[in-house]
Amino acid sequence: MSTRLTIKEILAKTTAHFKKYELQTPRLDAEVLLADLLGMERIELYVNFDRPLETEEVDQYRKRVIQRSKRIPVAYIIGYQEFMSLEFKVNDQVLIPRPETEHLVETALEKIESLTKESLQVVELCTGSGAVVISLAKQLGELAVTKEIDYVATDISKSALEIAQENASKHGVLEWIEFLSGDLLVPLEDLANKADLLLANPPYIATEEWEQLQPEVKREPELALKAGEDGLEFYRRIISGAESVIAEQGLLGLEIGLGQAEAVQKLLLDKGFIEVEVIDDYAEIPRVIFAKKSS
Ligand SMILES: C[S@@+](CC[C@H](N)C(=O)[O-])C[C@H]1O[C@@H](n2cnc3c(N)ncnc32)[C@H](O)[C@@H]1O
Repeated sequence: MSTRLTIKEILAKTTAHFKKYELQTPRLDAEVLLADLLGMERIELYVNFDRPLETEEVDQYRKRVIQRSKRIPVAYIIGYQEFMSLEFKVNDQVLIPRPETEHLVETALEKIESLTKESLQVVELCTGSGAVVISLAKQLGELAVTKEIDYVATDISKSALEIAQENASKHGVLEWIEFLSGDLLVPLEDLANKADLLLANPPYIATEEWEQLQPEVKREPELALKAGEDGLEFYRRIISGAESVIAEQGLLGLEIGLGQAEAVQKLLLDKGFIEVEVIDDYAEIPRVIFAKKSS
């Protein structure tokens, strides 16, 4: 009689194990790790509940379970994260793109469609895995938007830019996007007053907040998260320099952290930006701010 574990059994065991380690989504994590290993969709695990696993599969799965128990994020273990229905390669050199950042992309898409200029310059600062700029380029490409759009994306991390370029290539938009390395607006010298849309999801975690983060989040690059004592360091720097890069009537779009809307709005108004608009996410949390450069 076979004593090999079935899919159903190994999922039950792993879920119980992850619960002991106080993971927030034990069953989901167990399923995602197994489905990826077996090259299946999660739903297929259920259809194949009674399938016995090969010894080799169990060994490989066990390695993944050990990694997850050490609080390595699922996305780093399987090597990718879905964002805007696209798969992005990730490793521990880049932030794992978050679902809430889709609001930045969706709002940017609406704004781009409403801009009347025929040719546009879109710039993303702090691109990380490239999820934002690549999703934008891909979606606008598919919508066959009649505008001519140039994209520039920057990051201070060269290893992040390598991943972003790989992702751009994977999604067929590498030749549309210029990737530049450097500190915030510094690589954009040639773009003075040219950006019609300047986007960023910068680091925004305050020093005190850092201590309270889940262990998984602390596995992500500190460079992608930490933003000084009050978490506003990057907003201050971006907003004070953005004016020189943004074209007349151009827009600045920023993702913001919990409770930062008022402070960022004030920074924008103090710098003379107009039409400051705060956009909530589905949980009605202010998540994105757009503002126009005054002419
Ligand atoms: C919150 S992550 C955003 C990544 C990606 N855009 C996303 O939304 O998933 C912030 C990014 O800012 C980059 N970064 C940190 N300091 C920077 C700086 N001074 N200049 C440019 N990029 C910086 C980090 O390397 C990281 O990739």
